[in-house]
Amino acid sequence: MDRIIVTGGKRLTGKVEVSGAKNAALPILASSLLADGEHTYRNVPHLADVSTMLKVLRTMGCDAAGLEGTGQAARTCTVGVAGGKVVPEAPYDLVRTMRASVLVLGPLVARYGRARVSMPGGCAIGARPIDQHLKGLKALGAEIHLTEGYVEARAKRLRGATVVFDKITVTGTENVMMAAALARGRTVLENAAREPEVEELARLLNKMGARISGAGTNLITIEGVEGLQPVDHAILPDRIEAGTLLVASAITSGDVLVAPAVPEHLDAVIQKLREAGCVIAAEGGGLRCKGPKVPRATNITTTEHPGFPTDMQAQLMVLMAVAEGTSVIREHIFENRFMHVAELDRMGADITVDGHTAVVRGVKRLSGAQVMASDLRASAALILAGLRAEGRTEVSRVYHLDRGYERLERKLRGLGAEIRRARG
Ligand code: EPU
Repeated sequence: MDRIIVTGGKRLTGKVEVSGAKNAALPILASSLLADGEHTYRNVPHLADVSTMLKVLRTMGCDAAGLEGTGQAARTCTVGVAGGKVVPEAPYDLVRTMRASVLVLGPLVARYGRARVSMPGGCAIGARPIDQHLKGLKALGAEIHLTEGYVEARAKRLRGATVVFDKITVTGTENVMMAAALARGRTVLENAAREPEVEELARLLNKMGARISGAGTNLITIEGVEGLQPVDHAILPDRIEAGTLLVASAITSGDVLVAPAVPEHLDAVIQKLREAGCVIAAEGGGLRCKGPKVPRATNITTTEHPGFPTDMQAQLMVLMAVAEGTSVIREHIFENRFMHVAELDRMGADITVDGHTAVVRGVKRLSGAQVMASDLRASAALILAGLRAEGRTEVSRVYHLDRGYERLERKLRGLGAEIRRARG
């Protein structure tokens, strides 16, 4: 298993390129099931999760190709869908490696009238049920049965309905929005997720011929259409990767231009970085961050977009770990997303957790150590800690990192970090 080895203490400077957004790419790839023909996606990130979604599509009988060569070609993939050939089934072996595989459920039942998709189990960060996805699809008229660990959904033709989500869910909103695109009549999604990735999916679906309005707000209206066409679409930049790189600059007292990035997608993160003493400005299609000598403590509560994203909680916690003062971090989205704390404490941080709250007492220095990544964002956080720590940090289980960051170590090395990957 690969490890990442960081020797801390280098100030990061220069420009770094942000890849396409993982959490936009995954629903977009799943949406190809909604239309026959060849779909072309650009700015697709090279990530283990993207490969898994392409595998899911291939297993169902689609042709997926690309992401090879250099330049544009390396970031472009095509998905060929021939309706007659599609087997509407996503097996346990794939869904268990990536929960987001469940995003094929909505498109399959809408287009093929049936779907058999393995139920995703819990994962390291929480139980993560899919009851709201199922509630939405049922409201659209799908008959749903849970048998042998699989969700079986059937419907002759979905029909529009009003769905009020009890809980704001990103992939739940996406799943039901994709299904509603082909339903008969109007669907209204209330208490919908407002994340930029939901908006991006709606933009893509509208290019395909869907009639969706309100995405990006908590009320989405979808007028169902008879059919959709494949399109050519470039995926927006990853706001969480961008945010992680901004923290890399902040924690090394660096000066880094992170681009491309959409500043409005990062408002809550930028605000917290400024409170911590960073100077941040929109520049060159991205964001430039100058880190303070010593960061200041600031409190953080994770909430749904446009609030502070849970996917940036671990990274900001590392910055707070070396800040002057005490910060309180509240995690409101996932019940178990503090697993990085024990590892950070092994590096000399002073963090205690009580339920959903972490109290971070800033320390003057962290020291390098052997640490273990427990999930995707936790692995990024440990690498950030390693950039600041004295001596050598070795992060194991970096397969978590590779699910959602494209060659993070190379990007950081390009900014002057002393970091490498050890294979095997
Ligand atoms: N929830 C339910 N019922 C549901 C769905 C969700 O109770 O039917 C709960 C979850 O257990 C959680 C909360 O609602 O407590 C929010 O979960 P949500 O459904 O929004 O999460 P998700 O759609 O499974 C996406 C991202 C995550 C990100 C969350 C929150 C993708 C593929 N994944 O997950 O990304 O943390 O939204 O913003 O879009 C990551 O990239 O590291 C990652 C985990």
